[in-house]
Amino acid sequence: LPIAKLRTALRTWYQESGRDLPWRQTQDPYAIWVSEIMLQQTQVKTVIPYYQRWLAQFPTIASLAAAPQQDVLKVWQGLGYYARARNLHRAAQQVVADWDGTFPEQFDQVMSLPGIGRTTAGGILSAAFNQPTPILDGNVKRILVRLLAIQQPPKKVLADLWEASTALLDPEYPREFNQAFMDLGATLCTPKQPQCDRCPWRSDCQAYRHQLQTTLPMTEQK
Ligand code: ADE
Repeated sequence: LPIAKLRTALRTWYQESGRDLPWRQTQDPYAIWVSEIMLQQTQVKTVIPYYQRWLAQFPTIASLAAAPQQDVLKVWQGLGYYARARNLHRAAQQVVADWDGTFPEQFDQVMSLPGIGRTTAGGILSAAFNQPTPILDGNVKRILVRLLAIQQPPKKVLADLWEASTALLDPEYPREFNQAFMDLGATLCTPKQPQCDRCPWRSDCQAYRHQLQTTLPMTEQK
């Protein structure tokens, strides 16, 4: 893979075509954390008003930690998957207890918080602190499977996909790279009818080369 070329092409595309999303206006790790948890199972368009209301109601980790669970669940109401809200609340209490309300910058500490797995930790640390932590959410998995024309279901090749995400991540611009990576999957490299004609990675995409972009990723089957 021409990694340097792919990084540059993605960054140029993102600067012209990336989405202007509210959590990209901040480097507050708490605000970015909230956005990442909401985005785990909910679409961007739905998340935006909830994200704004949440931060108005609970502007800091300490304010969230101190709130009654009933208030927390009420602000979450309508987003679904309420374990996410309960985990955020518990995690805020853990951050107050362990780090005096300051969100941690060490990967292992971030991973120790309830509701935060490897990709969420990577997303937060790259967006908030510009750390070169890779991500592997659904969008990124789909892009990588197509770029590399991997003819196996993503779940069977997770280690390879993490390795590819790590190798591609631009160590000079990790914040920008990961945001661009997600936007590429959300806006062009979509599950159905990907817009390969507009893709900055088209000339190096193995799925496009073999016209497999609509048949990959393979679906799960036993
Ligand atoms: N999905 C998960 N994290 C995201 C982000 N930071 N921007 C857009 N979509 C996302």
